[in-house]
Amino acid sequence: MMTPSDVLHSPERATGSLRVDGGRLWRSLMELAEIGATPKGGVRRLALTDVDRQGRDLVVGWLRETGSRIEIDGAGNILATRPGRDPAARVVLTGSHIDTQPSGGKFDGNYGVLAGLEVLRTLNDANVATDKPVGVAIWTNEEGSRFVPVMGGSGAFAGVFTLDYLLRQRDIDGVSFGEALDRIGYAGSAPVGKRALDAYFEAHIEQGPVLERENKTIGVVTGALGLRWYDCVWTGQDAHAGPTPMEARHDALRGASQLVEAVHALALRRAPDGRATVGSMQVSPNSRNVIPGRVTMTVDMRHPDDDALAAMDSELRAASAAIAHELQLECELRQVDQFEASRFDAACVDAVRTATQDLGYPHREMVSGAGHDAIYLGRVAPTSMIFVPCKDGISHNEIEDAQSEHLEAGANVLLHAVLARAGTSRVDRASA
Ligand code: HGY
Ligand code: MN
Ligand code: MN
Repeated sequence: MMTPSDVLHSPERATGSLRVDGGRLWRSLMELAEIGATPKGGVRRLALTDVDRQGRDLVVGWLRETGSRIEIDGAGNILATRPGRDPAARVVLTGSHIDTQPSGGKFDGNYGVLAGLEVLRTLNDANVATDKPVGVAIWTNEEGSRFVPVMGGSGAFAGVFTLDYLLRQRDIDGVSFGEALDRIGYAGSAPVGKRALDAYFEAHIEQGPVLERENKTIGVVTGALGLRWYDCVWTGQDAHAGPTPMEARHDALRGASQLVEAVHALALRRAPDGRATVGSMQVSPNSRNVIPGRVTMTVDMRHPDDDALAAMDSELRAASAAIAHELQLECELRQVDQFEASRFDAACVDAVRTATQDLGYPHREMVSGAGHDAIYLGRVAPTSMIFVPCKDGISHNEIEDAQSEHLEAGANVLLHAVLARAGTSRVDRASA
């Protein structure tokens, strides 16, 4: 297999008929999925843990084999760049994340990184020289499951928050992002962001049921929901479950329970686009015969319209205050993360749509319900996404599954959207 430097001066190859190697993509996905594999067939690879390091080491090795230049920045973001004919041209970047939920799947994030790797491998195999450099990124802590903020690495890259803010964030055990990054040896020296990109394309499983339900192969993603994350602490009074009369209790779990129902109801009032979830709750002292005096919980709210999301915020605050008053509890509700609804770049969306049509895949336009690194990349570069179906629309679950031919199709769309953007002009014989 030739590497980019051999290819730069090779004769031009027709690229329209270029296709990825779906079998190689699937094998790479399955090999990466072994790192952090769970008994139910999922993956547990929390950001900046030893298994995250192992996954990073494996994929960086594959990226190096393509002859690409590897850079690691101060947030642990990994950027592989395959040179183009014009060294001054801006990179056409793709990528995603390889950190997962605690009980995540094989494809969320991992697919977008390995589809980008497959694009590099395919370009090398076909001796294609692109005018602009083509890159693949692995963004740190996209899931926001171990460290808040969500999409931490790409957010620092896009300047949404400072690197110092990100490095200071602590997980549930009090370990800071910076300490964890140092410990796995991925605190790089490359500057975080502050580099002009030509475009960013991210391939991802849909993580919802629409494409499969409509029997479509590709989602041409035009934007994503806005999001707000909250931490909420209910304070009552620990007391004995036996002697304490019902009317004399200050039961923090009753407050949390009523807010769970209020959160669900405020999203239903904005059906079908409103989303609201309580995904995590800790009861203290968590003993069968003690009335809980303290409960911490999280709230995740989403909507495609920022005004609607602001209204949901107001309703959430009003509901928590009313419940606290009624039950004579204290309630501290704090917003800890947020991003506005986003619309992707029309030219990049069109590149994805055109590639999909040229390849003949059944497709539809759609908005992403999930957050992705592309949301923050869209702040600093023309950006769009490519979705492929996942089985029963299930994700953030160990049973997450996808069909190889769909993953291959998405990688083909990624290949041709990137090629359309990166250009493969004929070599100027005089300059060759
Ligand atoms: O929360 C999200 O939407 C993403 O999976 N981090
Ligand atoms: Mn993801
Ligand atoms: Mn995810």
